[in-house]
Amino acid sequence: MTNIHSDALVFFGATGDLAYKKIFPALQAMVKRGHLNVPVVGVAKAGWNLDQLRARAHDSLEKHGGVDPAAFEKLCGLLRYVDGDYQDPETFAALRRELKDAHSPAHYLAIPPVLFETVVEHLAKSNCAGGARVIVEKPFGHDLASAQELNKVLLGTFDESDVFRIDHYLGKRPVNNLLAFRFANSFVEAFWNRNYIKTVEITMAEDFGVQGRGGFYDQTGTIRDVIQNHLFQVLSNLAMEPSVRFDSDSIRDEKVKVLKAIEPIDEKNLVRGQFRSYRDENGVARDSKTETFAALKLEINSWRWKGVPFYIRAGKNLPATCTEIVARFHKPPSLLPESILVENHLRMRLSPEVTIAIGMMSLSPGEGLNLQTGEMVASHSPQADEMDAYERVLGAAMGGDSTLFAREDYVEEAWRIVEPVLKKNTPVYPYAAKTWGPDEVERVSPPGGWSNPGDKKVMALASEAA
Ligand code: BG6
Repeated sequence: MTNIHSDALVFFGATGDLAYKKIFPALQAMVKRGHLNVPVVGVAKAGWNLDQLRARAHDSLEKHGGVDPAAFEKLCGLLRYVDGDYQDPETFAALRRELKDAHSPAHYLAIPPVLFETVVEHLAKSNCAGGARVIVEKPFGHDLASAQELNKVLLGTFDESDVFRIDHYLGKRPVNNLLAFRFANSFVEAFWNRNYIKTVEITMAEDFGVQGRGGFYDQTGTIRDVIQNHLFQVLSNLAMEPSVRFDSDSIRDEKVKVLKAIEPIDEKNLVRGQFRSYRDENGVARDSKTETFAALKLEINSWRWKGVPFYIRAGKNLPATCTEIVARFHKPPSLLPESILVENHLRMRLSPEVTIAIGMMSLSPGEGLNLQTGEMVASHSPQADEMDAYERVLGAAMGGDSTLFAREDYVEEAWRIVEPVLKKNTPVYPYAAKTWGPDEVERVSPPGGWSNPGDKKVMALASEAA
């Protein structure tokens, strides 16, 4: 069922947190752009009616992005609501009635994965699954076995081409821009390999804590929450080979190859941290060993990358909110003393603004052989009317385009890489809020230390550095 546009959107978990924070704003934006004009059926067990769901949507929009009166009114016209228990066949009979003559609905499971099996079975039995698509959220399982189990449940009823696993990083334009930068510019290919690149760092820093999601986070931790999915997608875009065709499977084939070339993480290449007040958060165990920070090193055993260490770190309660990649180059075989040369770098910031910067050396103003480093920067801030990642991925799923979604084999490869070390129960070192993680992170740091977003280090004068 490739090209047919979904003729209804059903979202389970309509009264939940994800719907409140992400789905209603995305739906209003889709309506406003003229991209959503089919019934939107919310399903939940809350004892609510349609007016209560509309009120919830209004409240959500007030807090997340603002109400656009015309688009909101139109969205309200599309909204339907089915209240009921996911175990009860009557809930699904009611859904079938609400779907009327829709035959290609997209079912978005914005619910805990433990409920997937029940919901998918009932969808099949109630004649809601034939011709339909299913959209699920990350994390896909909590390890390889549970991911395989989830895939089995989904693929028991739906074809892989009708399963859309949301990793909203794939819906971010700056993440996709990495591919444009690499493959739409001929000069990049010349240096984007082990001959020129010495190290690559990927940092995803957030200056806030778990924001009331302690219960979820404590079961998840940084590696499962953002590294195994979001940052591996960034890594794949950075490291993949150009696809020989433009269809979604050819592109995703290349991404899977990146993961296949990575060995499971060794415990000596991982440092986990936890910010000091984390255990006081609601829903967090008082003796929790869950990481809120992780830094790791891995290698990609491919022709292009063999021998180049990739450093990945992510954390909550760090000094800044920023996602940034810094690739450092080997020094040139210059006649100048090694000590006055600073490595060139390529810096790609994905958020809050989008930046591509090349760090290089030049003569300082004045006389004498004084070198300085500086960056050549191209940067822009997101446009006010830019699509949010959720809007983009929901639209793509309803249109049947799988490019922006994680394929089954990709998800399983990603678990293969992180699962062994997750099961090792490695130490969790405390760190003070608003710092760059525990001191022990030194063990997993690029030569010369991490490049912290906003650091002046990359701009330092070479003569000072010498
Ligand atoms: C989510 C994680 O998937 O991504 C959150 O569960 C994290 O913990 C969020 O904060 C980051 O997304 P974004 O789009 O704000 O970078």
